[in-house]
Amino acid sequence: MRATQAVIDLAALRHNLARARAQAPNSRILAAIKANAYGHGMLRVAQALADADAFGVASLDEALQLRDSGIRQAIVLLEGFFSADELPSIAARQFIPAIHCLEQLEQLEQARLPAPINVWLKLDSGMHRLGFPLAQAQTIWQRLNACANVSCVIGCMTHLACADNLDDDFTARQLADFHQATASLPGERSIANSAGLLAWPDAHAQWVRPGLMLYGVSPLLGGRGAQHGLRPVMTLRSELIAVKELKRGEAVGYGGAFICPQDMRVGVVAAGYGDGYPRHLGAGVSVLLKGERVPLIGRVAMDMLTVDLRRQPQARPGDAVVLWGEGLPVEEIAEHAGTIPYELLCRVMPRVEVLEHDP
Ligand SMILES: Cc1ncc(COP(=O)(O)O)c(C=O)c1O
Repeated sequence: MRATQAVIDLAALRHNLARARAQAPNSRILAAIKANAYGHGMLRVAQALADADAFGVASLDEALQLRDSGIRQAIVLLEGFFSADELPSIAARQFIPAIHCLEQLEQLEQARLPAPINVWLKLDSGMHRLGFPLAQAQTIWQRLNACANVSCVIGCMTHLACADNLDDDFTARQLADFHQATASLPGERSIANSAGLLAWPDAHAQWVRPGLMLYGVSPLLGGRGAQHGLRPVMTLRSELIAVKELKRGEAVGYGGAFICPQDMRVGVVAAGYGDGYPRHLGAGVSVLLKGERVPLIGRVAMDMLTVDLRRQPQARPGDAVVLWGEGLPVEEIAEHAGTIPYELLCRVMPRVEVLEHDP
């Protein structure tokens, strides 16, 4: 069997939730597990995070999967509903939509629901993606509060645009504007994503909404999970499937992109872009071979990549290789790939076998 696997460390996941709690001790935790829990498996993550106070998802579909699998916590639809025909299911299962625009509000007002629902009011404090303008906070609140289909407006939610950058004062402005606009409104507040939770204590409020940090990854620019006491949850691993003895001047892989500068050993690892490892990674990137850093050489192919074994004379087919995770932060690989760890985690391909590790 092909050895390419994503190992999901459930103990690390629980540890990271405990870290989030320690960092925001007066807040309840809405764990963001949308997009298949950032590639980690939504159900397994929800089950492992039994201590989370609520879960945040991106669609009714995700919410239904969770409920149908016995998840009992509150489930918040972070983007609300996408059409009015979702409302009866939302009411039947008591999901909690974030209401972010006039169209949603009108559909909610006009619906005939079997039972009223709880909602969050989503406000736009400067990110300019979802949410009502802050200036409308009072009037929208009143309309929601007066709506027969709403049993409770839990509170006001907003999202931070630049909290990953500690040097950017936009976060302080968003916080000030949000607090000012909502000062006279009752209910709870929810502002912080992982970056807000870790770096902006003023953003904690009654509910924090961490995603990335739960998976052990730093949300801060240039940061590493370990700096926050986090442990990586996903380790993407494979193994060496061939070792070649090549002569100086011989080329390796597609396009002959790497020319051996001397007689040398080259290892072939069973992982490639068909598994979600970025094709354009190259010079400067390492994998871990039996715990030691080994440079990537040549082009990443669909199923394989090649590594320089000049400093690993003992390396043999079957040796374990880590592509990211334990010992090799996905943050580092994402930086080399010109992307963010969120993307790498989310796009691990379905053919990669997923194993749970729960010591
Ligand atoms: C509304 C909302 N809250 C919270 C999160 C969690 O963010 P992060 O993974 O950066 O902690 C997200 C994710 O994008 C989100 O869209």
